Amino acid sequence: MRTPSSARITTAAVAAAFSLFLLIVCAGSQPSASPAGGSSSGVAVTAADRTEALHIFKTRCAVCHGQEGRGNGPASVALNPKPQDYHNEAWQKATSDATIEKAIVEGGTAVGKSAAMAPNPDLKHKPGVVVALKDIIRKLGQEGSGE
Ligand code: HEC
Repeated sequence: MRTPSSARITTAAVAAAFSLFLLIVCAGSQPSASPAGGSSSGVAVTAADRTEALHIFKTRCAVCHGQEGRGNGPASVALNPKPQDYHNEAWQKATSDATIEKAIVEGGTAVGKSAAMAPNPDLKHKPGVVVALKDIIRKLGQEGSGE
């Protein structure tokens, strides 16, 4: 009678070693400073970035997108298409973080949308602030479309 038990033990040992390897690799690549959200590109977001992003959102984006991100800010009246309503679930699902970040920095035309969505070239060298803005938009989306 053959005993497959030693083969089984070897397999288990290999599996354990591989899990440990994955654990070490994953722990090592964890972004250091992004408690909420974060970026697929591994950009670290500081608390200062989040404060600046919130300020920019309220003073720059809300004019069109609305303070609650419903696409109904004062300047939206004159716009067609309307500014994106961040509470639109279908849009949230369809768009990627990278697309949102690109639209913010390079403007609507860079992602095939309206030129009324203006670029923000001053944020090009502030990737942490851009990711923090994206997180604000994603968070508003999680609050649903009703009120
Ligand atoms: C002058 C008005 C205006 C301002 C200011 C503005 N937006 Fe927009 N934004 C728009 C419009 C209009 C669209 C919709 C474009 C479309 O659907 O074709 C849009 C779309 C977007 C989108 C959706 C892009 C996509 O992939 O579908 C994002 C994200 C966005 N804006 C973020 C921002 C952020 C962040 C700010 C502030 C830094 C901002 N916008 C400021 C008008 C504006």
